[in-house]
Amino acid sequence: MTANDSSPHHLQLTRDGQLRHFLTLDGLDRALLTDILDTADSFIEVGERTIKKVPLLRGRTVVNLFFESSTRTRSTFELAAKRLSADVLNLDISTSATSKGESLSDTLLNLEAMASDMFVVRHSQSGAPHFIAESVTPGVAIINAGDGRHAHPTQAMLDMLTIRQHKGQFEGLKVAIVGDVLHSRVARSQIRALNELGAGEVRVIAPGTLLPKDVESLGCTVEYDMARGMKDLDVVIMLRLQKERMEGALLPSEREFYRLYGLNQQKLALAHPECIVMHPGPINRGVEIESAVADGPQSVILNQVTNGIAIRMAVMSMAMGGQVAERQQKLSERGQT
Ligand code: CP
Repeated sequence: MTANDSSPHHLQLTRDGQLRHFLTLDGLDRALLTDILDTADSFIEVGERTIKKVPLLRGRTVVNLFFESSTRTRSTFELAAKRLSADVLNLDISTSATSKGESLSDTLLNLEAMASDMFVVRHSQSGAPHFIAESVTPGVAIINAGDGRHAHPTQAMLDMLTIRQHKGQFEGLKVAIVGDVLHSRVARSQIRALNELGAGEVRVIAPGTLLPKDVESLGCTVEYDMARGMKDLDVVIMLRLQKERMEGALLPSEREFYRLYGLNQQKLALAHPECIVMHPGPINRGVEIESAVADGPQSVILNQVTNGIAIRMAVMSMAMGGQVAERQQKLSERGQT
């Protein structure tokens, strides 16, 4: 890495390979991803206590900056920060000065002036968290909570934690991601994580109109037929049709999509009998998944939500630790410690 290399995967690591921002899974190796999963595992027990708190971020200020709507990600980041004992500020973008024309940079400068230690950012523009990480004051950590179609790294990691809990390991697993891969930041991060962690096969199942042109280059095989694609699966991950990101008619109709690619009990019966069913949410019942499957015995959809808190506690505490270590290293180089 050169001093000028500001690619997201270099920007997010300290010189000795610790997290200092969490922007993308690109460039993070298996050891670091496993460290995140192991750290999250150690936080699961905190959520089962009567007093659900540890002091790791005591005195720190975490700002949730969500420029796009969210239920799961925003709530679990807030709970994770509170369980780490941080002070949490949820900026309501609809009533903030952004609605009066203030730029993102000016909003951030003002929040930095309040001595914030961490920004959790969701934005419709791919690359927005990277842009912020490049310009933010040293010592402030940026966590990507989903940017455009680019990445949703904490979602992918909570999905990996859920898979590991149910399957024990990744080696040899056959995993399929079904539906609107084209518009999905979640799918891109999941494919990256599954490959790095050693999954046996990552398949995408979708009509051609909902696949990116170079999808195989992401590290997956492609299946257009759902019945063939479901065969022998250990894990099936359903995706929401992201109509807010669709330009033009990519589907004949939702009804036709559900007939061909919606997950019902008949299609699930084609997979391995212990196949688990996942969905990042929000789910659209009767569009990509049948209620009997979403609420059925093979569904781990709500486990994913619970695991979101532990994964976000892990990522926030690790990034803050990396920022502190980097600051200490710089002070020591200047002979100030
Ligand atoms: N999975 C996910 O990102 O859900 P939200 O949009 O509710 O945060």
